[in-house]
Amino acid sequence: MKHLLSIHDLTDTDLEAVLATAEEMHDVQSRPVKKLPALRGRTVVNLFFEDSTRTRSSFELAAKWLSADAINVSAKGSSVSKGESMKDTLLTLDAMGVDAIVMRHAGSGAVAQAANWVRASMINAGDGTHEHPTQALLDAHAMLRHFRNHDLGTLEGKRVVIVGDLLHSRVVRSNVALLPRLGASVALVAPRTLLPAGVDTWGVEVTTELDDVLPEADVAMMLRVQRERMQGGFFPSEREYIAGYGLTGTRLASMRPTAVIAHPGPMNRGLEISSDAADSARAIVLDQVSAGVAVRMSVLYHLLAGNE
Ligand code: CP
Repeated sequence: MKHLLSIHDLTDTDLEAVLATAEEMHDVQSRPVKKLPALRGRTVVNLFFEDSTRTRSSFELAAKWLSADAINVSAKGSSVSKGESMKDTLLTLDAMGVDAIVMRHAGSGAVAQAANWVRASMINAGDGTHEHPTQALLDAHAMLRHFRNHDLGTLEGKRVVIVGDLLHSRVVRSNVALLPRLGASVALVAPRTLLPAGVDTWGVEVTTELDDVLPEADVAMMLRVQRERMQGGFFPSEREYIAGYGLTGTRLASMRPTAVIAHPGPMNRGLEISSDAADSARAIVLDQVSAGVAVRMSVLYHLLAGNE
């Protein structure tokens, strides 16, 4: 595996290996001394053209805990703000001899385009509304750990309900590509205005009625309402959005006793998710954050050291 641009890049063997290594990395993460020598001498650049807290910091920690050198380059504060193109920025970093570039960009397909220009391994850290493959991998890893730790089995036969701003979400596209491969069934829920064109061809259930599917969910994955990508009125008011699609205290009470709540973050508390839900014992939101470091350690390991 040279690049990770999409969940579709992973064969079943790759997928099994990435998730298995993430389990081993998770154990390293909880040790007092976290350093492994696996990527000593390698260099990873985080190149972010969009803001991030979780993805950028977890990739940086992942690289450092594997003993790689890691640097961060943001569009803000780099020569991009002086007008340098994405291609010249990539060629510049590549010419320094870096081994991997973790890139986030507002353009769908931008990271795949970048992979044609550079010698380094490219990792997609979110490209427009296309994909966020390491987010789906960490979501799966967090769910699998939760189910295993609670004697609830695996993802096989589990029902994952993904709710909210599907139109602007790259997380949903990666999860729809991944979760059925792990045996889960997926139901997508959104108001009609936030359903992507062609969603009916994605091969999963689609509905506008959250209350019809939430009581049967094993996982309710709430998606952020991406106000920064919305120019028009996608719903009449926040109050109406909450009434139809918010994970309120009442909806929380309608869920199965063993069901959990996931959110890729950042959360809009009081909009797609109430604080009752976000702070409840059922929420695995911070487990997802922890899983992010383990999964990104695994991905870096398999891309940069996997063949050795
Ligand atoms: N989930 C996610 O990608 O979060 P960040 O935008 O903080 O990286």
